[in-house]
Amino acid sequence: MSPVVTTKACFDDLLTPKDHISRSLSDTYYIDPQEDLVLRTHTSAHQNELMQAGHRSFLATGDVYRRDEIDSSHYPCFHQMEGVHIFDPKELPGAPQSPESIQYVEAHLKETLEGVIGVLFPHCETRWGNDSFPFTNPSFELEVWYNDEWLEVLGCGVVHKQILSNCDLGHTDGWAFGLGLERLAMVLFNIPDIRLFWSEDVRFLSQFSENELTTFKPFSKYPPCFKDVSFWLPSNFHENDLYEEIRNVAGDVVEDVTLIDEFVHPKTNKKSHAYRITYRHMSRTLTDTEVDEMQAQVRVALGTELDCEVR
Ligand code: PHE
Repeated sequence: MSPVVTTKACFDDLLTPKDHISRSLSDTYYIDPQEDLVLRTHTSAHQNELMQAGHRSFLATGDVYRRDEIDSSHYPCFHQMEGVHIFDPKELPGAPQSPESIQYVEAHLKETLEGVIGVLFPHCETRWGNDSFPFTNPSFELEVWYNDEWLEVLGCGVVHKQILSNCDLGHTDGWAFGLGLERLAMVLFNIPDIRLFWSEDVRFLSQFSENELTTFKPFSKYPPCFKDVSFWLPSNFHENDLYEEIRNVAGDVVEDVTLIDEFVHPKTNKKSHAYRITYRHMSRTLTDTEVDEMQAQVRVALGTELDCEVR
């Protein structure tokens, strides 16, 4: 299935409100805003068409795209696995959408996913939290205690009754989940930086073979180079636009962008932000000249593309 989908498939059919943040130009890559075509932001964009095509239990895996911050666990393209299971109404303990039925589906969902996570992270402690997605009700998240922190590994829930009836499934109930695959693989293989999944470095690639769970042995990292930039914000500033411009200039060489200072000018009321950009190549040392050039281009782009007044 193509990663280019309509806003109808990505949002409307999933009951996402018109003013929901996930629809904004700063969060989603629009191929053409006039034509309402986007790069799918999640594999849930295919739930409806697959159910309408008659599928009742399926997994859908694919690349998804989001405009987001820049750090070791965020990259504009990543992969998700969607799972949907629709019950035969005979399996349900009560009428569809009745409290008994919802409770049964919820328990089945949780038990199923605990089984999956139990295999992937044996002996790890897990916990359920409540979450909110427009297309499931109720909605949950599952977290795993890993390396001294709670890590969110999936979102899920009982399929919203409106979606079921839109897919001619109003006579039954079902569940759905969405799993972030890089997140999972980073934990399973001990991979510290999401950019490594795109690496062609043999020191990385040679460590993995099919059907084998190996622990990644970090090879020496090349030195990072930090550059700060500060500027007056235009009135319509959005951080994701900044990240996008920096990626346009520096590509995968940018490792991290962090806001390090902000203030409002007492007289003019203008707002200023300072960011620290970390440049680091995955397989060689960057030269000063290269980094200076990228930084100079970032400064220009901030002015020309984002209307920022660089200081
Ligand atoms: N699509 C949701 C996300 O990307 C995850 C999800 C899938 C939640 C299916 C509920 C059901 O965050």
